[in-house]
Amino acid sequence: MMKRDEIIRVPQAELDAQRQFAREFSALPGRPRTYYIVTYGCQMNAHDSEKLAGMLEDMGLTPAAQKEEADFVLHNTCCIRDNAERKALGNVTWLKEIKKERPDMLIGVCGCMVQEPGMAEKLLRQYPFVDVAFGTGNIHQLPELLFRAADTRRRVVAVPEEQSTLIEGLPIRRESPFQSYVTIMYGCNNFCSYCIVPYVRGRERSREADDILREVEGLQKQGVKEIMLLGQNVNSYGNDMPGGLSFPKLLRRVTETGIPRVRFMTSHPKDLSDELIEEMAANPALCRHLHLPVQSGSNSILNAMNRRYTRESYLEKVEKIRKAAPDVGLTTDIIVAFPGETDRDFEDTMDLVKTVGYDSAFTFIYSPRVGTRAAEMPGRVDPALATERIERLIALQEEMTQMRFAEMIGRTEQVLVTGQSKRSEKQLTGKTSRNISVNFEGSAQMVGQIVPVRIAAASKTTLKGETEKGA
Ligand code: SAH
Ligand code: SF4
Ligand code: F3S
Repeated sequence: MMKRDEIIRVPQAELDAQRQFAREFSALPGRPRTYYIVTYGCQMNAHDSEKLAGMLEDMGLTPAAQKEEADFVLHNTCCIRDNAERKALGNVTWLKEIKKERPDMLIGVCGCMVQEPGMAEKLLRQYPFVDVAFGTGNIHQLPELLFRAADTRRRVVAVPEEQSTLIEGLPIRRESPFQSYVTIMYGCNNFCSYCIVPYVRGRERSREADDILREVEGLQKQGVKEIMLLGQNVNSYGNDMPGGLSFPKLLRRVTETGIPRVRFMTSHPKDLSDELIEEMAANPALCRHLHLPVQSGSNSILNAMNRRYTRESYLEKVEKIRKAAPDVGLTTDIIVAFPGETDRDFEDTMDLVKTVGYDSAFTFIYSPRVGTRAAEMPGRVDPALATERIERLIALQEEMTQMRFAEMIGRTEQVLVTGQSKRSEKQLTGKTSRNISVNFEGSAQMVGQIVPVRIAAASKTTLKGETEKGA
């Protein structure tokens, strides 16, 4: 755990200096006018992109409709699995051709991938058309970096070795007027043996509760209906601030602001407390959804993954949640073909999935990440076998999803209407408190509202509903 005095809160003077760079940038002759951000990866990255967009707009840039037209294209990358990284690098390389026709275009790369050891050097060496690169620990320096790149037309790479920064007060351009992300903590201390996140996002650091609550109050006043509190392991919120609020207490305070719906991600099963379960049961503003990544149903694999819980203790917690709050839907993440995974281990995972009955699951084939412990482990699973396993797992989860959906038919759910369908204006789409997508007919005025919808049918991944008479 990081001690509070090791965490560097980016001082106001530094943020003021960045604002000055933003002003100088906007006065540069021939500077980039438009931007486009391509975002990969998880909600943390999606939210970082909202901050990057906020800073870019502060610098006088406006969004471009397409990346090919933009003067500055920024790739906010992910490196959780090899395919995420390859996709990002492939798309960066593809822009090289566009840049041949539009040599003034500036190309930027940021996010988790840039924070990998050796990546900055690789970008400098193998990607000469990349103009700006920076890590996750110094996004606040974007105005300065882009100013330097545009002013000198020389390449600028800045990656902090230590990502112990806590950055408050950045401008944010939020994607939605009624659903918002709010970060409560950065980084991760868990070092699951397969995972690169602790290396690219640094150690856990919690935001001060007052800063979080001020942000949420602001959003509530703007009419935001739903917020999602973000952290790699929200259950260890505040562990680095002795005497501060625990995560369940923070949840209580956040809902007391009057925000109608509050979600959070992600909960590590080892830290899921009774206090949190009680709060979920007692507090109706907390969404009826818990994402509880299990990763594997086999104890020997869980041990090799360094997850620090067992199949039994996980199932015990699931049992507790079901008892205390039976309307809460569970979802999960699962990795198949972790090094050394036997048929028996995999069957344990299948069995656990059947026992829990998740609403849905994100399933992944294990991908070795350089620098993590699992990458050195023997017993790589044959790719054909890995594919066979994941296909069986997906098929089983589809059955489970259908079973859960079937239970919902005939019920009336409160749905936050998130938008209109592309096909027809009258077709609306939204999310239940349990985080399940519902399509139904309604009017455009409903977008952004929470409305009652009767669930009439289920398709593979969504529900179909109808608004109640008079709604
Ligand atoms: N902090 C979150 C998840 C972060 S990454 C948590 O602890 O649950 C999201 C998911 O990606 C993980 O839950 C895991 O299932 C998957 N993942 C992470 N590293 C991986 C790897 N090397 N190969 C395959 N999947 C991986
Ligand atoms: Fe990765 Fe584990 Fe941390 Fe999640 S808890 S981010 S899987 S190390
Ligand atoms: Fe998220 Fe990918 Fe980084 S999953 S934390 S964007 S490595």
